[in-house]
Amino acid sequence: TEITLIGVPLDSGQTRPGCLMGPDAYRVAGIVPTLTGLGHTVRDIGNVSHGPVPEMPGPAHLVRPGEVAAWTEALIDAGRSVEGMPVFMGGDHALALGSVAGMAARAADRDRPLFVLWLDAHSDFHTPLTTESGNLHGTPVAYYTGQDGFEGFPPLPGPPVPFDNLCMMGLRSVDPGERDRLAATDAQLHDMRAIDETGFAAPLRDFLAKVAAAGEADLHVSLDVDFLDPSIAPAVGTTVPGGATFREAHLVMEMLSESELVTSLDLVELNPAMDERSRTARLMVELTASLMGKRIFDRPTRGFGYG
Ligand code: ARG
Ligand code: MN
Ligand code: MN
Ligand code: MN
Repeated sequence: TEITLIGVPLDSGQTRPGCLMGPDAYRVAGIVPTLTGLGHTVRDIGNVSHGPVPEMPGPAHLVRPGEVAAWTEALIDAGRSVEGMPVFMGGDHALALGSVAGMAARAADRDRPLFVLWLDAHSDFHTPLTTESGNLHGTPVAYYTGQDGFEGFPPLPGPPVPFDNLCMMGLRSVDPGERDRLAATDAQLHDMRAIDETGFAAPLRDFLAKVAAAGEADLHVSLDVDFLDPSIAPAVGTTVPGGATFREAHLVMEMLSESELVTSLDLVELNPAMDERSRTARLMVELTASLMGKRIFDRPTRGFGYG
């Protein structure tokens, strides 16, 4: 696979400093040699930056909305023209306003639908009008599905992602303002309560089968560090107990690899200032390696019901 690494030193989606060191932490943790070692062609285009910061309308408690709007514009541009597989190295989750909107436009440019797998403790379905914290890293899903309330942000450059194409796994912190609106959609929502009963494999297999059944389709994976249990991934500002274990997370990545369906990836919310000797950064790189084909023994691909 031709992989393009896009460094996104964005930390304006929340207030804790540190996420802007994320891209370099992934580089220090060896993301380039790890992926090259798996046989991929890797191009690290360095860190992107944003253009002029606009004046923004909207509630006064929003945290740095002009910067998030400027990043969104920059990331739509950075991702849309990438030929192979972009990996957005964040940066907090506000980067997904731009990464997913850009991937939706790229998919439409290729006459394909875009599917999104959201691996996160949070649903990030606030709008600028519903967020209580004002932190826009809690809003990307509402933005790229085309919800109202994003005055002053770039208009979506492509079609909104249909809820039917959205699958969330790992949920265990959903605010009252998000809950009912999200539950009323067709999104496939797998909270940790459900995962405790079924494990990750069954619902993930179902979602991948649905993506495969769409024929030529793109699949974007957005991996928030807090999808993982804090005991294995401490370097994140929004830890929530009860996340995916080491084994569960690797299984998810290996199943994604075997599906051969993933066309773009976000690595978000890593805060290197909170890490312990780079262990979270290294785990995220190892998970990326599993997603990109690292395995113990070869297994037949597309042989497990993905279509
Ligand atoms: N729902 C909370 C909020 O709106 C937390 C969002 C956390 N999002 C994230 N990408 N870590 O502030
Ligand atoms: Mn800035
Ligand atoms: Mn998130
Ligand atoms: Mn989260």
